[in-house]
Amino acid sequence: MNDRIPSLWEEKLAADPGHSQWYVERFRTLVAEGSDIVGEARTVDAMVARGSRILDAGCGLGRVGGHLASVGHTVVGVDVDPTLIDAACQDHPAVTWLVGDLSRLDLEAHGIPELFDAIVCAGNVLPFAAPSTRQDVLRGFARHLRSGGRAIVGFGTDRGYAVPEFLAHVAGAGLQPELLLATWDLVPWSEGGDFIVAILRRAEVAAG
Ligand SMILES: C[S@@+](CC[C@H](N)C(=O)[O-])C[C@H]1O[C@@H](n2cnc3c(N)ncnc32)[C@H](O)[C@@H]1O
Repeated sequence: MNDRIPSLWEEKLAADPGHSQWYVERFRTLVAEGSDIVGEARTVDAMVARGSRILDAGCGLGRVGGHLASVGHTVVGVDVDPTLIDAACQDHPAVTWLVGDLSRLDLEAHGIPELFDAIVCAGNVLPFAAPSTRQDVLRGFARHLRSGGRAIVGFGTDRGYAVPEFLAHVAGAGLQPELLLATWDLVPWSEGGDFIVAILRRAEVAAG
């Protein structure tokens, strides 16, 4: 990963090296307490056929992809944080978890040439990507989706990534907004909302 631009998440870790482990313990505690941490996964599960191929982009410790795998989908998770990927491997050993930078996503190089039916990008991953790399992250999504496949991206709109800029990046990446929501439980989007869930379809390339 030479000359790559570190994500804002990595900058946060440089300032606070214990943050990833704290994050892992926080979610493991929520699970132990019986909290529902898989709401985003249930929404994505409702959008795809049984046994779909799903990429968990910026998977963290695998809370979304782990659930999707447990209900029968084939999941690959990618995250730039090795501590979180270690935790994902421990908690969901049957899933493929990879350390990698989404702005340089090339799963074929990892021996995974098959495209995905859906990509889920939950938990403020895009605002945590380095600003200059966010459109490359979305381009990577378009490259890894099958024709007609969808990316579902959710993030807080008060985290330094404005919705108009996001939608311009979406268009430039070859993705089309199919539906904009305000929450993962399907409240419609309205201008000025503090959270967005965007369902994006890979734009079709005209034949001939
Ligand atoms: C708040 S966490 C969310 C993790 C997970 N999606 C979830 O919802 O539980 C944000 C994640 O985005 C990842 N991330 C940010 N930029 C990234 C990049 N360029 N490539 C891969 N992962 C990235 C971070 O490493 C971190 O795990």
